[in-house]
Amino acid sequence: MTTSDNTQKNFSYDIASEIRDLKAKKKATILAHYYEEGDIQDIADFVGDSYFLAKKGQEVQSDLILLAGVVFMAESVKILNPTKKVLVPDLDAGCSLVNSSPYEKYLKWRQQNPDGIAVTYINSSAEVKAISDVIITSSNAERIINSIPKDRKILFGPDQHLGRWLMKKLSRKFELWNGSCEVHVLFNAKRLNDLIQEHPDAVVIAHPECEELVLQYASVIGSTSRLLEEVEKNPAKKFIVATETGIFHQMQKLRPDVQLIQAPVEDKSCACNNCPYMKLNSLQKIKQALLTEKPEITLNEALRVKAQISLDRMMDITTGKSVSWPSQFEM
Ligand code: 13P
Ligand code: SF4
Repeated sequence: MTTSDNTQKNFSYDIASEIRDLKAKKKATILAHYYEEGDIQDIADFVGDSYFLAKKGQEVQSDLILLAGVVFMAESVKILNPTKKVLVPDLDAGCSLVNSSPYEKYLKWRQQNPDGIAVTYINSSAEVKAISDVIITSSNAERIINSIPKDRKILFGPDQHLGRWLMKKLSRKFELWNGSCEVHVLFNAKRLNDLIQEHPDAVVIAHPECEELVLQYASVIGSTSRLLEEVEKNPAKKFIVATETGIFHQMQKLRPDVQLIQAPVEDKSCACNNCPYMKLNSLQKIKQALLTEKPEITLNEALRVKAQISLDRMMDITTGKSVSWPSQFEM
């Protein structure tokens, strides 16, 4: 190990212990998504997929919660647990799905289809959640859609690829919004096929935000937690993984014996399997956020109350409760 490696290691060790001390002093809870860097996942109290983070965020007792992920995840926690102070390391940590579903356009779509049930991916703004009927994540979408009466029209957004995959899987037709994840659409089907020929013993696993052409090669398609579970339980020794690379950290922790191969993107020189929004976070920014208790997620209370209706429906269905569906969209 070189001197600079040592300095780097000591630095991250020191900052990690500073964060742990600060967390204890402030009685804060840190929640982190699987797409964060490994050093961030390692200082978190809970690491998980977007459903798990929303659920944990709803249950957390401490008054201060730091969400190391993207802003829509922190907003979901604030909507569900409004008396807590919810921090994010960087308010610019957005999401291309949020950007592709601006409120005014989404509202127009809803108004044009007043009889439809708006099933909205959690990767959306609080404003869009407030005009939706139910929120889904990739881990509970099938269960939630199956609970909607078959004769009801479904408006699904903002991720068209997740929507298309669900339509096929559930043999049901939706009106689709045309948003997409800028990271997952970069995986390249032709190069993936070539990689599979080179590694015929590898199991291909993919997140449903990938395009249909890529998904056709995957034997397991699911949320980040589902993909992690597959690596943990499948006795195979090699996996080709079509999702963001942050999750490799937990995969490798659970299965140090397996080889994980990143699914390829078209541009061979690009580290495009990283979400630029998730990767805006760092230990330094987390420390600063805990010290200053900023940046904080704040939401207009009337908006929050409206957005909670669709998130509560998600929680109720996912935890086995029955729900009622509105007959018409009303503003
Ligand atoms: P998960 O709910 O599977 O963690 O997905 C979140 C996400 O942003 C995927 O890009
Ligand atoms: Fe959004 Fe894609 Fe990043 Fe997930 S990976 S947060 S969907 S941009």
